[in-house]
Order: sequence, then C-alpha cells, then structure tokens
Amino acid sequence: MTILVTGGAGFIGSNFLIDWISQSNENIINVDKLTYAGNLRNLISIDLSKNYFFEKGDIGDANFLKKLLIKYKPRALINFAAESHVDRSINDPSNFIETNIVGTYTLLESIKFYLKSINKTEKSNFRFIHISTDEIYGSLNKNDRPFNEKNRMLPNSPYSASKAASDHLVRAWYHTYNIPVITTNCSNNYGPYQFPEKLIPLVIVNALSGKKLPIYGDGKQIRDWIFVKDHCNAIRCILENGRIGEVYNIGGWNEKSNLEIVGQVCELLDELKPRKDNTSYQSQIAFVKDRPGHDKRYAIDARKIKKELGWKPSHSFESGIKKTVKWYLQNLEWVKTVQDGSYREWIKKQYGSNK
Ligand code: NAD
Ligand code: DAU
Repeated sequence: MTILVTGGAGFIGSNFLIDWISQSNENIINVDKLTYAGNLRNLISIDLSKNYFFEKGDIGDANFLKKLLIKYKPRALINFAAESHVDRSINDPSNFIETNIVGTYTLLESIKFYLKSINKTEKSNFRFIHISTDEIYGSLNKNDRPFNEKNRMLPNSPYSASKAASDHLVRAWYHTYNIPVITTNCSNNYGPYQFPEKLIPLVIVNALSGKKLPIYGDGKQIRDWIFVKDHCNAIRCILENGRIGEVYNIGGWNEKSNLEIVGQVCELLDELKPRKDNTSYQSQIAFVKDRPGHDKRYAIDARKIKKELGWKPSHSFESGIKKTVKWYLQNLEWVKTVQDGSYREWIKKQYGSNK
C-alpha cells in the first residue's frame, strides 16, 4: 500500500516523513514544488529508504497530479503543501491565493478524477487529509474560550483567509462529491527543520549570530505551542481512525506569550551555549514595529481528538523546546544552507539591516 504527501520537504512534512519511515514499511510518496521553504536536505536520513519516493511538482498542476495518482494508486493523500508564513502573505498574497486556494481546489478535482478509476473498496478506504491551521478562527480575547471545531471562521490575514478558503473547498467537495476528507486545524508548531523566518528558529539563529531578537509590538500576543512530533502523531491517528467529513483541532494545551517564548529560548541558550561575555541573550531583545492586523491570541480546545481518538500531546513545552534548541545547536550547517540569497533578501525586507 502507498500514501502520498504533498509539501513533504517543508517543516512539518519532513518531520512526518522521517517519523513515517521509522515506523512503517508502507510506501510514501513526497510531492513537493521545492519553493524557498522546501528543502530536500531535511530528508537526507530517509533518502535511501526503499519505501520513500520523491516527485517534484506543483499541487496546482492538474495533469501532473492525475498522472501521479494513477501511477501510485495511494490509499491516502495528506496535504501539507502551502505557503505558510503570515508576514510573507502580508507582503505579497499572490502565492497564497495560488497554492493555498487554487492548489487545494486542483488537488480536490484530481482526487475526484482518481476516485473514478479505482474500485469500490479502494474508494471507501481512501482518505484526503487536509492540514490546516487554527488561524482560520481569528483572534481570541484574554478570557475567551479556546477554539473548538464549532467556532466560526474569522480569518484576519491573507494567509489565514487563504487557508480558511481551502477548508471551505474541502468541506464542499465532501458534501457535494463525497470525497472522503478530514480537515485538521493545528496550533503553532515548533521543532527541528523549521525555517528560520518563524519566531522560534529565528530567535535561536539570531541569538547565536549576535543579532537582534525582534519582538513585534509589545510581545504580549499569545500562541498555543505544540512540538511538531506531537502534531505528526495526531495526523497518523486521524489517518487511521478519524471520521470522514470531520474537523479535528490539534493543540498543545500550552499558551504562552511571545515574550515568554523568547525568554525561555534565551535561558536555554544561556545554559547550553553561553555568550562570550556571560550576559544573557535576553540583552539582544529588540521591540520592533508590530505586524499589521496582528492576532492577539490563539488557543486550541483539543478535547474532541482526545475523546474520539485517544490522542494527546506527549511533550511538555519544556521537553520540546529543549530538544529543539539542542537540534539547532547541533545542526548549524543546516541553518547555514537554508540562509541563501532569497532568505537574506526576505530578512532585509522584513527587519531592515537586522544589526
Ligand atoms: P512550510 O512552509 O515549512 O512547508 C511548505 C512546503 O510546501 C514546502 O516544502 C514547499 O516547497 C511546499 N509547497 C509550497 N507550495 C507548493 C505547491 N504549489 N506545490 C507543491 N508543494 C508546495 O510549511 P509547514 O510549516 O510545514 O506547514 C505545513 C502545513 O501545515 C501548511 O498547510 C500550514 O498551513 C499548516 N500548519 C502549519 C503550522 C505551523 O506552525 N508551521 C501550524 C498549523 C498548520
Ligand atoms: O497558529 C498556527 C500558525 O502558526 C501556522 O498556521 C503558520 O503557518 C505558522 O507560521 C504560525 O503562524 P504565526 O504567525 O503565529 O507564527 P510566527 O512564528 O510567524 O509568529 C509567532 C508569533 O511571534 C506571532 O505573534 C508573531 C510574533 N513574531 C514573529 C516573528 C517572525 C515576532 O514577534 N517577531 C518575529 O520576528
């Protein structure tokens, strides 16, 4: 049997593939366009595995997708492929519309075509797992209840609006065409292989190179952080036992302000790789201009997936962040390789000279 993932050369997809290969002999096909965020170096450890295959391509290319589905006959497709960075979506939303909306539409249509070519049993076993985000629900006030699956979608950024649109399409293709879909809405992930444009890896990388640690606005915004391996684990549970047509929220039960996050990362770095002058990395913190339309707080109510599928996160923030900081310290070569010309251009655009 075979499963197909899209966007497997990105942060969460790479972690999912590495975990899959360590636990299963089932074939897994990785379809990725290799944008700035896709990096085949993430997958070096599984590259020679007999059950891992890579196909370069775009989820917006219907002909390519249809041929691929017929060729591999997967029992499931997990869609990680997306443009994922909020600040980039504010700077230029066009790729977000193309990949997150038109790309998801093209995937759904290609699956509709594929399902006509397989038998009844294969069809009833097939799953399309759509990986989405908690950002579709918008922003919470301090005393609001965490997002559950019945919350309204109230997206505030071009990124979250494009993801919300993709979730709507997935839902409609289930109701109208019986495509066997499941959607997941997860909170902020952190862990190995995260591109250093996102808060946690950016802070680690900047701290080590003596640069400013940029905090948008007052730094009091809250996110609900989950270690990436826990997210991957939840997706495997949903793939095997999730109910068709359902939405599952996934979160770490771990709300923290950005200032707390940056403070904890600095403390770990102080312990594991002290600065030469023995003062704390916290001295590098710099408050910068706020993100336009910055969502104040996200928090996930992950009771449904626990009740139905028995999943809960197994990492505390303390254990997950320690593993993460150690991973970056041990993989500075990886960091160097992703900091290419386009990365430097983005950082300059977003933070000025960043000195
Ligand atoms: P990422 O940006 O690290 O990786 C995205 C991957 O998709 C890259 O490998 C890229 O090359 C590929 N890709 C982009 N456009 C493509 C296209 N048109 N066709 C084929 N491949 C394409 O993203 P991530 O952080 O790993 O996120 C994966 C998914 O999980 C996204 O859908 C994102 O919305 C969602 N998500 C992310 C988080 C998080 O905290 N990172 C949290 C919740 C949900
Ligand atoms: O909630 C899930 C989402 O989490 C995912 O859907 C997105 O793909 C993922 O990028 C992430 O979105 P955020 O915008 O929350 O993540 P980011 O790491 O960009 O920022 C986290 C918080 O830190 C946010 O409040 C903005 C703030 N921030 C970020 C950067 C990059 C800063 O204060 N300074 C920074 O330099």
